[in-house]
Amino acid sequence: MMIFSSGLYVHKNMKSKILNYLKEKNDFVSGQDISRDLQVSRTAVWKYVKQLQAIGYDIEAVSRKGYRLIAQPDKLFPDLIQDRLGTKVFGKKIIYLESTNSTMNDATRLAIEGACEGTIVCAETQTDGRGRRGRNWVSTKGQGIYFSIVLRPHIPLSQAAALTLVFAVALSKAIRVTTGLEAVIKWPNDILISKKKVAGILMELSAETDHIHYIVVGIGLNVEGKAFFGLPQATSLEQQLGQGISRVQVFQEILRQAEEHYALFQKKGFAPIARIWREYSATLHQQVKITEARSTTEGIAIDIDDQGALLIQERSGRVVRKITGDVIHLR
Ligand code: BTN
Repeated sequence: MMIFSSGLYVHKNMKSKILNYLKEKNDFVSGQDISRDLQVSRTAVWKYVKQLQAIGYDIEAVSRKGYRLIAQPDKLFPDLIQDRLGTKVFGKKIIYLESTNSTMNDATRLAIEGACEGTIVCAETQTDGRGRRGRNWVSTKGQGIYFSIVLRPHIPLSQAAALTLVFAVALSKAIRVTTGLEAVIKWPNDILISKKKVAGILMELSAETDHIHYIVVGIGLNVEGKAFFGLPQATSLEQQLGQGISRVQVFQEILRQAEEHYALFQKKGFAPIARIWREYSATLHQQVKITEARSTTEGIAIDIDDQGALLIQERSGRVVRKITGDVIHLR
């Protein structure tokens, strides 16, 4: 299979095979050995190694000794993401782009063309990354994880909003597992660490009456970056950890957690997800103000219901149900 990525044609299978071979040997291997074991000419081996070096793999080439893999690039290459990923569906197909306007657009196009569930589009940067309510999502090159995933869930349309919370739980868990940081969820779609936003989730869907054609979920996570000039409420994993972390490792964990929680949601409904959400929530029991296009509601966030809507108890005692909106935590 030939894939096209950022102006470079790569023979996917042979490239992966050579990489895996070098990884397994973990030492110098001669071009002759690779050529014999993988049944490819020595000239081709040399050509693939050159291509791998060109996209950031640190491969040492020494005459009479051969090739040795020293380091892999911290790029979101499908091969790296899929290496020991362990998921059944999420990430089985990954489209990698150096740059795009928004992975939401690419994934939506693929979904319309019939892409299967779990198909992912990820990019090193986005020129027009978007957040909820038409906001811009800053996608600095190579510093974050920006991806969209195609879903074809068997759920009624009324349950779709809860999916954002399913992904919020999965994303928080993945951050907790890989960094040890206490990532919490600000309803509905923000992930915070130390009260600053580190990640956001965007959901777009196509449906008619009660049938969902497809859902595209987009995730943006700030991984690197020590300062966010002009964005005082934003942070990154690096800033919070005080050191860098591999984007590939975090990405893999997001996919594992997302697949697990999505499967749980489809099998057992929202109740088990809601339990974890309550544990991770930064919004619950807070005095909040929710703004929508034409209204504002103030009160205490007392719970979420089985569709992921936030229940707010106003000062009068009346409980109001909100399925969408921007939340401000008042204290
Ligand atoms: C938000 O917090 O409002 C949601 C942010 C979602 C950003 C991600 S980055 C990958 C995907 N592509 C986009 O254009 N947006 C989402």
